[in-house]
Amino acid sequence: MNSPKRYTITAALPYTNGPIHIGHLAGVYVPADIYARFMRMQGREVAFVCGSDEHGVPITIKAKKEGVSPQDVVDKYHKIIKESFEDFGISFDNYSRTSAEVHHKTASEFFKKLYDAGKFTEETTQQLYDEKAEQFLADRFVVGTCPKCGYEESYGDQCEKCGTSHNATDLINPKSAITGSKPVLKETRHWFLPLDQYESWLNEWILEGHKKDWKSNVYGQVKSWIDDGLRPRAVTRDLDWGIPVPVEGGEGKVLYVWFDAPIGYISSTKEWAEKTGKDWEPFWKNEDTKLVHFIGKDNIVFHCVIFPAMLKAEGSYVLPENVPANEFLNLEGNKLSTSKNWAVWLHEYLEEFPGQQDVLRYALTANAPETKDNDFTWKDFQARNNNELVAIFGNFINRVVVLTNKYYDGIVPEPGEFSEVDEQTLAELKAYPAVIASSIERYRFREAQGELMNVARLGNKYLADEEPWKLIKTDEERVKTIMYVALQIASALASLSEPFLPYTAEKLKRMLDYGKASSEATAVAFEGDSGENEWEQINKESSLVPEGHQIGKGELLFSKVEDEQIQKQLDKLEATKAANIADNKKAEPQKEIATFEDFSKMDLRVGTIVEAGKMPKANKLLVLKVDTGLDVRTIVSGIAESFKPEDIIGKKVTVLVNLAPRKLRGVESEGMILMTENADGKLVFLNPDEDGVKNGTVIS
Ligand code: MF3
Ligand code: ZN
Repeated sequence: MNSPKRYTITAALPYTNGPIHIGHLAGVYVPADIYARFMRMQGREVAFVCGSDEHGVPITIKAKKEGVSPQDVVDKYHKIIKESFEDFGISFDNYSRTSAEVHHKTASEFFKKLYDAGKFTEETTQQLYDEKAEQFLADRFVVGTCPKCGYEESYGDQCEKCGTSHNATDLINPKSAITGSKPVLKETRHWFLPLDQYESWLNEWILEGHKKDWKSNVYGQVKSWIDDGLRPRAVTRDLDWGIPVPVEGGEGKVLYVWFDAPIGYISSTKEWAEKTGKDWEPFWKNEDTKLVHFIGKDNIVFHCVIFPAMLKAEGSYVLPENVPANEFLNLEGNKLSTSKNWAVWLHEYLEEFPGQQDVLRYALTANAPETKDNDFTWKDFQARNNNELVAIFGNFINRVVVLTNKYYDGIVPEPGEFSEVDEQTLAELKAYPAVIASSIERYRFREAQGELMNVARLGNKYLADEEPWKLIKTDEERVKTIMYVALQIASALASLSEPFLPYTAEKLKRMLDYGKASSEATAVAFEGDSGENEWEQINKESSLVPEGHQIGKGELLFSKVEDEQIQKQLDKLEATKAANIADNKKAEPQKEIATFEDFSKMDLRVGTIVEAGKMPKANKLLVLKVDTGLDVRTIVSGIAESFKPEDIIGKKVTVLVNLAPRKLRGVESEGMILMTENADGKLVFLNPDEDGVKNGTVIS
C-alpha cells in the first residue's frame, strides 16, 4: 500500500467545564490514540494534537454557577483533563489550550486573513437579547424548541437531540439560560461565513469524493445538511469571553467558539513544533499530509462542513482526509450526563482500579460505539477482563514466561525441526500484522482489537494442544521447539498490543526484555525520520526473541476483577439515581406573580382527543385532532415519549385554545394540551376525565 508518510491526527478539544468520562474516552480519545500509536509504529511521521477548548458559553455558564471567573474554571479543569489523558496513555504529541498566546495569535490572524480577502459578509441582524442580564444570547445562553425535531431543550446553535445546527433566532419559544426570561430582538452587527457559497464545492469534495471512504453515519449526516441547503453562519459573537474580533467594528465582540476551537489544532501543532524544533507547516500544508479528525457525532457538522469551508477560504491548508466520528456511549442503559453525574469519571476509575488503565481501554474499544450508540455495563467490563484479558492473554503470557524461566533459566531455546502444527501456527501468526493494520486503517478498532485477541487465542490453543508441561518428562527436545514457537507468539503480542494496551505492551516488552522495552508507553514522541518500522518487523526472520536471548522475570499482566468491586460501582450508580430522583422531586420555585387579568387572558377548555398519530421523523411529537367543543382542531404535542397514539384516542383533556398558533415541522398547531409529570418523570394529562363534563366547558 502506498500510504502517505505524514499524518496530522487531531482529537476534539474537550470543553474545559468539567472532567472527562468514559464516553469521551470511548468515542474520541482511545480510537485516536490507537490510530496515532499504530501510525508511529509504521514509521510514519505523526503529529497527534489536542488541547483544551476554553472559550464558549458552557465555560461562562459554569463560572456563573460556581461564582468564580471563567479563567478559574478553565485552569481547574485543564489540569484535571490533561492528567486524565496522561494517566490513560493517550499519547498526544502536544496538549495545548485555547487560552494560550500562540492560539489567540493564530486564530486572530486566520480571521484577519479571511476578512482581508473579503471572505466574510457583514450584516446587521436582529439577535436575541436578555434585557435582565443586559446581554445578547448566543449559543448555549439560549434554549428553546428545535425547529427541526421539536426537542424543547435545544441550544441556540445546536440541537443535542437531532444534531441539527441552527441559528439562535430559529428556535421556537426561546428562553434565556441565564435568567429564564423571554428574550427580545435587538440589532447587532456580525461577520458571517457564507456557507451557501461553498455548497457546490462541498458537494463535489465530500458527497462525490468521499462517498466510499467516509463512515456511513458521518457521510449520511453531512449529506442531509448539504441537501437541506446551507446558510451563512455568524462567526462572531457579542460576548466577553473569547478571542477579541481583531478588526474595526469588532470592539466588544469575540470569535464564535466553533470558529476559534478547530484552529486550536493548528496552534497546538505550532506549539509542538516550537518546543521540538520542527517545522509545523508541512503538517498542515503539504499535499502528502493526511489530516484525520477524531470526534464524537455531535461535532460532525463543524468538522465536515464549517471548518473545511474555513480552510478552503483560507486557501493554503490541506483538508481532512477522513473524519471517523463515533456515535455515543451510554452507561448502564442511560445517556451519560455530566450534570446528572451519570458517568464513570476517569480520575475516579483510577482510584477504584489503580494501574488498570488498559482494562478500561480494552473494554471501551471492545464496545466502541463505532456504528451505533452502545452501552457500557460494569458486568461486561468484568467479563472482558476476567474472560479475555486474564483467561486468554494473561494466561498465555504467564505460561510462556514461567516455563521459559523454569526450563531454561529464561534463555530462549534453540528450536528443532518444526512440526506441521508449528509451521501452520507460525504462518497464521505472520498474517496478523497485516490483518490488524487493515482494520485500523479502515477505522475499525473493535475489529482490530478482536484480531489482537485472536493472536493470544492462537498462543493459548497452541500451548493447550502441545502440552509442553507434560512432554517435558518424555521429550525435552520437542519442548524446546514448542517453547520457541510460543515465545515468538508472545513477542508478536508485545508489539501488536501496543496501540491498544500500551501499559501491557510496555510490561510485556520488559518481561521479554526486547527491543524498545524502555520506550515509555505514556510519552511516545516522534523520534525523527528514522525509517524504523516496528510493525513490519514483528514477524521478520530475525526474531525479536531469537534463540539464546535472555528474557526477564514474570510480572502480573492482568488480575481478576471481583464481584464485590463491580457491586460497589453498581451501588454508586444506584445512589446517583436516587439522588437525581430526590432532586427532581424538589418543587420548582414559584414563577412571577400573574395578575388576574394575566390569567383571564388564557382560554382553557375541556376537549377530547379524537385522532392521534406520530409526526414523521420526530421522536417526541404527536399530531392530534382535538374536539374543543368550538371546533375540531390540530394540536401538535411533545408527548410521544410518554403515550402511544392509540392509547389516548377518546381521552378528555384540558386545552389552552387561544394560544397563538405556531408551526412545528410544517404542521400548524392551534392550542396546547396541559400536562404534568408523575414521579417517574412520565407525562400525564391534567385530566377532567369524569363522565358528563361536556367539551368546551370553561376551566376557571
Ligand atoms: N469542545 C467541543 C466539544 O466538546 C469540541 C471542539 S473540537 C474543535 O464538543 F474542533 F473545535 F476543536
Ligand atoms: Zn432537534
